[in-house]
Amino acid sequence: MKAAIFASGNGTNFEAIAKSKKLFDDGLEIKLLVCDKPNAPVIFKAKKLGIPVFINNLDDFDTRADYEREIVNVLSPLDIDYIFLAGYMRVVTNVLLDHYPNKIINIHPSLLPKFSGLNAIERAFDSGEKQTGVTIHYIDEGVDTGPIILQKIVPISNNDTVETLEKRIHENEHIMYIEVISELIKNEGENRNHEKGID
Ligand code: GAR
Repeated sequence: MKAAIFASGNGTNFEAIAKSKKLFDDGLEIKLLVCDKPNAPVIFKAKKLGIPVFINNLDDFDTRADYEREIVNVLSPLDIDYIFLAGYMRVVTNVLLDHYPNKIINIHPSLLPKFSGLNAIERAFDSGEKQTGVTIHYIDEGVDTGPIILQKIVPISNNDTVETLEKRIHENEHIMYIEVISELIKNEGENRNHEKGID
């Protein structure tokens, strides 16, 4: 499976996916990191791992559609099967969605539909709820909406701080994203065999 990962920040999910031996053995090829923030730490993580980086700055474009058309132009020759959003802090529009229908997946640090949008971990922590979680889902043109693939509860204990909760959420995210991508690779293989008449 050929994939592009989109990220805007630290890139711990990016790094977990890129360093996963399981996903490498399953056949994942990360063709490109797409980043919208010119100095984001994820860029340096990608360079260290030898993964090509495309930095696309929204400020350089008149419209969001033009910004995404540029991404489509760069991705097209790479023959990308899936796009994985890993802390990509932008709403994706129809330009990308139309080119990659049902092929763009997002991870979000809450039990969606609760706490969609920014600062989901802090907002869940401040709400006094006893649990939050992680959701991996296909995206549509909404903010953190679209069919859910996998969701896991992460309890909030009385001893937690935002930092300890965030750390536990990230640990869960890394495991879950690898599990979901591995499953997608398996399903793609089965679909291909089915099309060829091999079962
Ligand atoms: C992750 O917690 C991810 O779920 C969240 O950004 C963080 C990125 O961390 N994504 C969203 O909030 C999307 N709405 P990372 O850069 O260390 O992978």
